[in-house]
Amino acid sequence: MSQARKIIGLMVALGMGVLASSFAFSQSAAVNEAIAERIAPAGSTCMSGDDCAAAPVAAASSGPRTGEEVYNTSCNTCHGAGVAGAPKYGEAADWTDRIAKGMDTLHDHAINGFNAMPAMGLCATCSNDEVIAAVDYMVENSQ
Ligand code: HEC
Repeated sequence: MSQARKIIGLMVALGMGVLASSFAFSQSAAVNEAIAERIAPAGSTCMSGDDCAAAPVAAASSGPRTGEEVYNTSCNTCHGAGVAGAPKYGEAADWTDRIAKGMDTLHDHAINGFNAMPAMGLCATCSNDEVIAAVDYMVENSQ
């Protein structure tokens, strides 16, 4: 083999190596970034190139849930069908006497429980305000 061919061969091998390793590097960087994005709490990731100072602290999706969302995920289980004597959603007759007790009482009973009505409607991740919003949502749509 001539000296020139050896040098060309070496250069080709080197070039391939550099290409391959830079490809592998960019692949793993993209994967790392995707994982970081997935495990970080919403709204807290600040990627290179982001204007981090101006980025909102909380993303829109991490705010309090609406009464409708809480109702659908937690309260509908019982209040949708009237399980165990629960006043039915949308059934005005079930709610008239309860509404007459006053909203403060209904909020209090939803948060602290009332007979077969479990405290917080069994929503372990709900704040008091989210439970109150769910009560208001049920009452608004049941009279
Ligand atoms: C495991 C079933 C169950 C779940 C889940 C549930 N409830 Fe109830 N709820 C009841 C029952 C049963 C009653 C009737 C209690 C009674 O009057 O003795 C009731 C009554 C109520 C009342 C009326 C209280 C009163 O003073 O008359 C409100 C308001 C209420 N629930 C809100 C909610 C909200 C808001 C949620 C979801 C966050 C929820 N409930 C989830 C079973 C449930």
